[in-house]
Amino acid sequence: MADHIAEALAAIVGEANVRCGADIGEHYRIDIGRKFEAHPAWLARPATTGEVSAVMKLAHAHAIPVTVIGGQSGTCGAAVPEDGGLALSLDRMSRVEAIDTLSMTMKVEAGCVLQVAAEQAEAQGAFLPLDLGARGSAMIGGVIGSNAGGNRVIRWGMMRDMVLGLEAVLADGTVVSSMTGMIKDNAGYNWKHLLIGSEGTLAVVTRAVLRLRPLPSTRQTALIAMASFEDAIRAMRQLETALSGQLSSFELMWEDFYALHTEAQLAQRPRPMPLGHPIYALVEAMGGDEEGDAALFQRALMALTQQGLVADAVIAQSARQRDDLWAMRDDLTPGYAPLRPFAAYDVSMAIADMPTFAEQARAAVMTIYPDVTMLFYGHAGDGNLHALLSIRRMDKQVQQAFDDAIYGVVRRFGGSIAAEHGVGTSRRDYLGWSRSESEIALMRSIKQALDPKGILNPGKIFAAL
Ligand code: MLT
Ligand code: ZN
Repeated sequence: MADHIAEALAAIVGEANVRCGADIGEHYRIDIGRKFEAHPAWLARPATTGEVSAVMKLAHAHAIPVTVIGGQSGTCGAAVPEDGGLALSLDRMSRVEAIDTLSMTMKVEAGCVLQVAAEQAEAQGAFLPLDLGARGSAMIGGVIGSNAGGNRVIRWGMMRDMVLGLEAVLADGTVVSSMTGMIKDNAGYNWKHLLIGSEGTLAVVTRAVLRLRPLPSTRQTALIAMASFEDAIRAMRQLETALSGQLSSFELMWEDFYALHTEAQLAQRPRPMPLGHPIYALVEAMGGDEEGDAALFQRALMALTQQGLVADAVIAQSARQRDDLWAMRDDLTPGYAPLRPFAAYDVSMAIADMPTFAEQARAAVMTIYPDVTMLFYGHAGDGNLHALLSIRRMDKQVQQAFDDAIYGVVRRFGGSIAAEHGVGTSRRDYLGWSRSESEIALMRSIKQALDPKGILNPGKIFAAL
C-alpha cells in the first residue's frame, strides 16, 4: 500500500478490501447513468458496523471526505464520491439478518439490494412494498438515504414509511443504534427520520429494521388510455374508491414517452396498445380475495370506460403479460440511450396543479428551445412528475436554461424541485426555489451539529460549509 491512509484502511477492513486511485473500479466512481464521474483516492469495503466506525474515526481524524457508495442508480449525483476523497462501499454488508412474521419486521444490513430484501420477505409470506425500476441494484442504505419512492407510494408511502429502526455511524465514528421494530415511539426527537433522505450528509446508515405488510395474494395489472391528463386524475380517484383501497400503482405516461419506449423495446415485447391516445397509465391493484379481485378490477375499469373517462384498456391475462407491462415502464435504457446526454427532472406539486404545470413547463421550455424533445411521465398519485429534456446541442448553458425554465414553473406552483430522487449536486443550486432561507439555515445548522468538519458527502444538497 502506497500511503499511510491506505495502510490504516487495510488494517481495518483487510488489504483485499481497499483500492487506491486508478485501481478503483468504475462502479465506485461513476453513476449508472454515466452522468457523474469522480476520482476518489481510496475505496474501502467494510464488513461490519465496527469497521465502518473505525473507518469514520480515521476519516474524521484526517478530515477526509467520505461518500457511501450503494447501487449508484441515483440520478442527481448524490452518491458520487469526492475527487481525492474516500468511497465507502457497504456491498459486503448485504445480509438479511432476520425476518419476524409476527411483528412483521425485517432486519437488514445497508448493503442489501432492495430486490433481495423484497424476495426474502416474500419467501416468508410477508411484503416489503417499496418498488422501483432500479430494484435490482439499489441498496437499502441508498433507498433510505434518498427516501426513495417509486411505483407503490400511492398506497404504502415512501421509504420513510417503512423504516422502524436504524443503526448509523456518525462523522466521528460514534455508533448510534435504535434497531427497534416499534411502530409507536415518541420518546424524544426522532433522529432516524432526520437521517432518512439526508443523502449521506449526516451519518452512514449501516443497518435498519423495516416494516413489512401482509403479502397480497392477487395482483391485477392493466394499461389504460385516456384523452387528457384531467381524465387520468379523475380515473385514478374513481379507481381508488371502486377498488376499496387496493389501488397500488398509477403510473402516468404521455403518448410521446409511451411511443418512444414501446418502439425501442419492440424486439423484447409487443406494443400492448396502439398509439394515438394522449395519456396512458399502468395501473395495478393488489389484494387478498382470489375469488373476487379480478372481477372487481374488471368492473371498475368497465365503469370508467362506460363513463368515457377511459378510452381503451388492456388487462394482463398472465404473469408474463403483467411482467411485460411493467418492463415496458421500467426498462427505459434502450429508449433513452439515443437521447443522451439529456436533462432529467423529478418534481412534485399538488395533484390538482399537475395538468397546468405540465402545460406551462412545456411552454416555458419550447419558447427558448422549440426543437427540444420533452417527455413527461410520473407517479400520478404522488403529484410526482418526471421530465426528460433532450436537444442535439446539450451543454452547460442549455442545461441551465432548461433548469431555470422547469424550476421556475415549479416555484410558481410552490412545488418541489426534488420529489423522490433527492438534491445531490445537480439540483443544489435550486434548493432555494423550493425551500425558504430559514429552512436552509436550519438544515445547515443540523449539518454543522452532526458533521462539524463537513466530511460526510460534502457538496451534496448544498455547497460545502
Ligand atoms: C422512474 O420513475 O422511472 C424513475 O424515478 C425516473 C428515473 O430514473 O429517471
Ligand atoms: Zn420515479
